[in-house]
Amino acid sequence: MRFGYFDNPSKEYVITQPNTPLPWINYLGCDEYCALISNTAGGYSFLGDPRDQRILRYRYDNIPFDRGGRYLYIRDDDSGEFFSPTWQPTNQKIQNSKSKILNKSKFSNSKSQTISNYECRHGLGYTIISSEYGGIESKITYFVPLGENLEIWRLEIRNPRSEIAKLSLFSFVEFCLWDAVGDSSNFQRTWSIGKAHCEENTIYHTTLYNSWMNIFAYFSTSEKIHSFDCQRRDFLGNYGYNSLEAPLAVVRGNCSNSVAIGWAPIGSHCVKLKLEPGEKKTIVFVLGVSNKIPNNKSQKTNKSQILNSKLKNKIHKKIRKFQDPKIIEKELRKLRGYWDDNLSRLQIETPDQDMNTSINIWNSYQCMQTFNWSRYASYYEAGIGRGMGFRDSCQDTLGFAHMIPDKVRARILDLARVQFEDGSCHHQYSPITKKGTLYNYSDDQLWLILATANYIKETGDFGILDEEVAFAKRQELVPAPIGHYNKSEIRDPRSEIKSKKQIPKASLYEHLSRAIDYTWKHRGKHGLPLSLFSDWNDCLNLDEGAESVFVACLFVEACREMEKMLRAAGNKLHEIAKYHKLAEKMTKIVNAKAWDGKWFKRAYNGDGKPVGSKKCSEGKIFLEPQPWAIISGVAKRKRAKQTMDSVFVKLFTKYGIRLLTPAFQRYYPEYGEISTYPPGLKENASIFCHPNPWAIVAECVLGRGDRAFEYYKAILPVSQNNQAHIRKTEPYVYCQMVAGPNHPDFGEGKNSWLTGSAAWNYMAATQFILGIKPDYEGLVIDPCVPKKWKSFTVKRVFRKDTYFIKVNNPKAKSKGVKLIRVDGRKINNRVITPFGDGREHIIEVEI
Ligand code: GLC
Repeated sequence: MRFGYFDNPSKEYVITQPNTPLPWINYLGCDEYCALISNTAGGYSFLGDPRDQRILRYRYDNIPFDRGGRYLYIRDDDSGEFFSPTWQPTNQKIQNSKSKILNKSKFSNSKSQTISNYECRHGLGYTIISSEYGGIESKITYFVPLGENLEIWRLEIRNPRSEIAKLSLFSFVEFCLWDAVGDSSNFQRTWSIGKAHCEENTIYHTTLYNSWMNIFAYFSTSEKIHSFDCQRRDFLGNYGYNSLEAPLAVVRGNCSNSVAIGWAPIGSHCVKLKLEPGEKKTIVFVLGVSNKIPNNKSQKTNKSQILNSKLKNKIHKKIRKFQDPKIIEKELRKLRGYWDDNLSRLQIETPDQDMNTSINIWNSYQCMQTFNWSRYASYYEAGIGRGMGFRDSCQDTLGFAHMIPDKVRARILDLARVQFEDGSCHHQYSPITKKGTLYNYSDDQLWLILATANYIKETGDFGILDEEVAFAKRQELVPAPIGHYNKSEIRDPRSEIKSKKQIPKASLYEHLSRAIDYTWKHRGKHGLPLSLFSDWNDCLNLDEGAESVFVACLFVEACREMEKMLRAAGNKLHEIAKYHKLAEKMTKIVNAKAWDGKWFKRAYNGDGKPVGSKKCSEGKIFLEPQPWAIISGVAKRKRAKQTMDSVFVKLFTKYGIRLLTPAFQRYYPEYGEISTYPPGLKENASIFCHPNPWAIVAECVLGRGDRAFEYYKAILPVSQNNQAHIRKTEPYVYCQMVAGPNHPDFGEGKNSWLTGSAAWNYMAATQFILGIKPDYEGLVIDPCVPKKWKSFTVKRVFRKDTYFIKVNNPKAKSKGVKLIRVDGRKINNRVITPFGDGREHIIEVEI
């Protein structure tokens, strides 16, 4: 069953039925302002950090699912009947629903008709939801204009009836009191600090949560308002016992002009509309945030001050600007242009339409969102605990460096800033304060090398290696403020970062080199790297002294990258030998100590017992070390093939490759969190999507294009569109995991959007299957495709030049480039040296 379709010319996914198996969401905002929105207008917003600067309140795991949101209610003042054009929260019956999910009829709206012509178009940076109810057509466009800290909701409403429609329109948002931790936990405080009031058409949310906070929100409408509400219980009525499905204000037909001093600040405008037959009207809502301005310069910012008129004028100017329909159209065009531009840097045309849809539009888009928000803020990550992940963010750059390399450069330097002098690093950090929250993971620091190498290959910017970056202090591992007023943090932690006298700095290169040293110095009995709290697999928490074969392979790859990087940079030549030797030594150790006969062991536990070995009764084979043994070159030809054959035979299923088998059947303290999950979920033998593309890469290294593509297709979300009732997550983005074959919900996806699968699948598809791979000397062309593919084309912008690459495969091979012509001239290797002339070049390739 499907709930929508891909409209590729518009670069939109169109949901045609509102009751999707899970909220199917979109991210609005490409910079600091981020707004998550579901297909029924649920979701929340934040500025820069979902924990410290949360704008809208959202209740995870609510009943019903997906509250609150950006809601509008339309009430027919003649009949008293009302509805939401986004279906939720009023929850009308749905017309022509093929869904098996029962649509409930309503009490408060018992005369209600059905919502029809529902459509949600999730586009790149915008969402349009339209529907029809009771003869009133509405269409809401939600988006965040580029570079602005605000979101626009544009309602286009039409009355196709033959009589006048007298309507009341209500908006609704619920404000989060900025600090999302306190907001959802410290109620004895938070229920007494909320502040919101309305002046003319603008509602201001001015709660001061912490001493350093200098932010307020505004919510305005283009129409003259009839009334407003800023206090939730007054809007809902019945002392707050009513729900958003039928708030008193809407039932009654007007708001009560309530002000919030304590309890729950909200923003609701009530606007009276009279639409002639056939009349259409556009009404705009602007929700934004701004910093307060001190009254005079000598005065240190007094955050509790009343908003002054200068500031209000500034805000009104901005609001007026973005209420102008022409400006809105212009901003929407700008947004579309921005995405066309980003995506145009890599476009493909292959015989597989699903792959084209994914690479040309959605996978790229997902890469940007994972780059922006790591694993921090989604519908499954509450945006309070995790912060930006070090290893995740490093890997996310792999799918994004070709799109906006400057952002990747800045991120790499940011990440180096949370590395300690000994080479290890914080596991997670706040994007605003850069304060870290955890450490003692064994793999984190090594990913920075892969991220840097990939960035330099893309850009040729070796200068990044000389950038001086401070190290983090261990003392920064203070418990993050947990939702209490914090006076010790008198100043905004952001200014602290700028002004702080830093402890030792070193070049980025030095940071990378310390990452290698750290791993080499922290090895165990077999000479393999210690696993510490965990490696890439967060949930494999082995005993003290355990060693990780996966980190060993990653280490070899990182050494090889260091070696190649130095060779290409042409400096520090004496160090090349060091990395070469380290890689060789570790390669020997892995082959001598970690080969299990048909695959590589996963680890040695603290007591010296193997993990992921035929000797184990559960968890005999794990996926992670297998592809990395091939990618890093640790496994030579015969072993490499045997390893990947074991993956195919033991781990591959129709929905992708599971993480291990057999699954753990009970809790084992010596394995840790992994064994707390039921078999087939999460790290305990689900199809974990992030390492699946590692296997694709490994198969491409081995030249087995058919198998690589089989793996690629098995987890490609676009290909699940027709079985959305099984997959349940959005068909336009990867999810973190899919329930494995020994789980009753085999095939069901979980935790969509923020996952390393985005960058890695993009990388595997473009750089390994299609084989268009940036390298230091130029663009390497080395495809590994299904034998039956006759040809494909790629448009690739690389270091200013644009390459139109056509690959022909007349002999039905997978791999092995026979011929390359650059602008008609044959070249003798597979590397296209950059022209640097900013022009278009034609590349013809034959396999
Ligand atoms: C999650 C984490 C990632 C980790 C993976 C496996 O996706 O974000 O860092 O590598 O789980 O445990």
